[in-house]
Amino acid sequence: MNRTVELGKVSIPVTAALAPMAGVADRAYRLMCKKFGAAYVVSEMVSAKGICYSDKKTAQLCTVTEQERPMAVQLFGSEPEFMAKAVDIVLKYEPDIIDINMGCPVPKVVGTGAGSALMKDISLAAEITAAAVKAAGDVPVTVKLRSGWSSDDINVCEAAKAVEAAGAAAVAVHGRTRDQFYSGKADWNVIRRVKGSVSIPVFGNGDVTDLNSCLKMYEETGCDLVMIARGSYGNPFIFKEIAAHFNGGDYSPPTVEEKMQVMLEHIRLIISLSEKNEEMAMHEARKHAAWYMNGYYGSAKFRGRCYLLSSYSEAEALAGEFIELQRSRNAGC
Ligand SMILES: Cc1cc2nc3c(=O)[nH]c(=O)nc-3n(C[C@H](O)[C@H](O)[C@H](O)COP(=O)(O)O)c2cc1C
Repeated sequence: MNRTVELGKVSIPVTAALAPMAGVADRAYRLMCKKFGAAYVVSEMVSAKGICYSDKKTAQLCTVTEQERPMAVQLFGSEPEFMAKAVDIVLKYEPDIIDINMGCPVPKVVGTGAGSALMKDISLAAEITAAAVKAAGDVPVTVKLRSGWSSDDINVCEAAKAVEAAGAAAVAVHGRTRDQFYSGKADWNVIRRVKGSVSIPVFGNGDVTDLNSCLKMYEETGCDLVMIARGSYGNPFIFKEIAAHFNGGDYSPPTVEEKMQVMLEHIRLIISLSEKNEEMAMHEARKHAAWYMNGYYGSAKFRGRCYLLSSYSEAEALAGEFIELQRSRNAGC
């Protein structure tokens, strides 16, 4: 019997989840990760205030499709009243979970007192959580935290306890401080310490890039669920490998042909879900195409060419050329 994490009525298989990524993990990306076995996905962060002022783009970010479930909509904000109102509005989209972002390090967000700025004001973090929990009714509210603001102020255990007391159903911990942004190494010890400090489930996040690091994170931190962000770039297969490990299924790494097929499928999805024309949608697809080509012979040159793609047929031709290059290399030409 496979293990699950239960948050209210939501049941999440204990394999690996997709962490939120603004500008990357949009619907097409989430659907690809889900198709390959992600246990759970989270939307790109959405401004609580933006929703309250009925920003159309913001509302699009909150839509949840059946194939993505279980899915959380992630909100950021620094005012409990706006958070409560935003939750109320987001409930229309029937998310399985509402997640509150208390980890975003970017100045635009931190400057408004939201994201990881809340790691410096734990009582406000708790108030925001309590407001969201009250507005959410029986929809679980989770909170995504960093280890602290800076290395001099690692306070995530205190923050996790405060949001637990405010009604959070789980916490996700990215083991970096705000000052680290995305550099350096994630500190998994803090995740283990949070696990020992609270009774709610703890999701571990930071530097999981393959099955081995995923298993290591479960073992070293005791976390309830691993969340993966950058390790899924051009690599939805990571979820398949991890799910196969836990579910006893077979897994073999994709061939270059399979990788290119999946890349093209992802690009088709980006184009079909985009409200823009094909050329504009391809701008969005470029970085993904480049990620799928990572780590192969000659990929630096091909990745550069991905950033010039302006149509699906060009992507198809480039994928064909890329496969040929790998084949001729393998044939020793
Ligand atoms: C491009 C990018 C966008 C991100 N956007 C969000 C976001 O919207 N909300 C959030 O909570 N975290 C966001 N994060 C942080 C990730 O969810 C994750 O915590 C971090 O990347 C560490 O995990 P990793 O080592 O698996 O990448 C973002 C990270 C990246 C790289």
